[in-house]
Amino acid sequence: MISRQQAIELDESDALADFRDRFVITDPDLIYLDGNSLGRLPKATVDRVRATMAEEWGDGLVRSWRSGWMAEPGSVGARLAPLIGADPDEVLLTDQTSLNLYKLASAALAHQAPRSTVLTDSGNFPSDIYVLSGVAGAAGGSVRMVGADPVAPSTSAIEAALDDQVGLVSLSHVNFKSGALLDMSSITTAAHEAGAMVLWDLSHSVGAVPIDLRGSGVDLAVGCTYKYLNGGPGSPAFLYVARHLQDTLVQPIHGWWGQEDMFGFGLEYEPAPGMDRFATGTMPILSLAGAGVGIDLTAEAGIDRIRSKSVALTSLIVDLFDELPAGYGFSLGSPRDDGVRGSHVSLRHPDGYRITQALIERNVIPDFRAPDVVRLGAAALYTRFVDVWDAFERLREIMESGAHEEFTDERSGVT
Ligand SMILES: Cc1ncc(COP(=O)(O)O)c(C=O)c1O
Repeated sequence: MISRQQAIELDESDALADFRDRFVITDPDLIYLDGNSLGRLPKATVDRVRATMAEEWGDGLVRSWRSGWMAEPGSVGARLAPLIGADPDEVLLTDQTSLNLYKLASAALAHQAPRSTVLTDSGNFPSDIYVLSGVAGAAGGSVRMVGADPVAPSTSAIEAALDDQVGLVSLSHVNFKSGALLDMSSITTAAHEAGAMVLWDLSHSVGAVPIDLRGSGVDLAVGCTYKYLNGGPGSPAFLYVARHLQDTLVQPIHGWWGQEDMFGFGLEYEPAPGMDRFATGTMPILSLAGAGVGIDLTAEAGIDRIRSKSVALTSLIVDLFDELPAGYGFSLGSPRDDGVRGSHVSLRHPDGYRITQALIERNVIPDFRAPDVVRLGAAALYTRFVDVWDAFERLREIMESGAHEEFTDERSGVT
């Protein structure tokens, strides 16, 4: 049995322990295990956004576009680049993940014509599958979906489904439900050998797992900044386009921010060179300010230190799961192998929704994903080992007392 004292000792030797203090924590008893959905608020974000409002907007007014705001999508992207193994001029912060996925998948299929099949797997985020289906349909093709193994991810099913119809392979690097981590490098190589391009969704890996887009030869990627990067609710997403493709691909939403001479106001669309052509309209400057702070904090902590603590935290979750009596009825919905697990662990239970509500009542915040997944996220910058230990203690108490049975299984709204 792992003792609470052992968890405390792990916190005492944690190289990232001081980072917790860099976040706004209003309730010290709250155990927040949902940083894989919405990261915590960095203290510096409060000051940064306030300065953006008071000085840059309040005082600078429209002059601030010229003195800094226009460059921000690219300059914040350049600060994110080292976290994903990209060059500074290969990343842009803009729009939402869904929209960026649409833009890049459409550009890729146009480039790959007449190939019009998009290959994905059933572990991809459903919204991505909807977007990809729309994009493939518009190109006269369809989505081909292989089954994802949530606990033992492998590349073989994806490789076996490649043929000369497939123009694009698009996958989530980390499965949003199980946390399974795919082998980016092998899949990218196999896709290229079959003549397909690749587009990775990094939403559940960026800021938690080291990513090497350049080293893996990745063509395209998208991801959000509001999970492990702590950018804030609805903070702008990012897109990555490998440099050699930037002047070849044309995205389908021809807005003025992607126009070569934006302030020339010509009536014909001429895509700007480089990453600028992947922008569309006016950027959300207040949210960008928050995204920048979250990215800088992550870079300061260092992705390798983050990954080692994240692996230690998720391993502790797996160990504590193993200590739960079998009679509680949980099964592990995530890989046991650290090497193929992202930064959250899923516990499956037929009563998962009610258990999630009972945990929330006890000041533990996981989230629930239908049909039966309780997701426990381990955000290394502020989650402590003792938090994980205490969460399991509260879980045991719920299961012993049957407290979850007081809650309804009827699902409504945000889960
Ligand atoms: C893996 C993944 N992709 C895409 C999305 C959708 O992102 P957005 O709503 O910002 O477009 C999410 C949202 O949580 C996600 O987890």
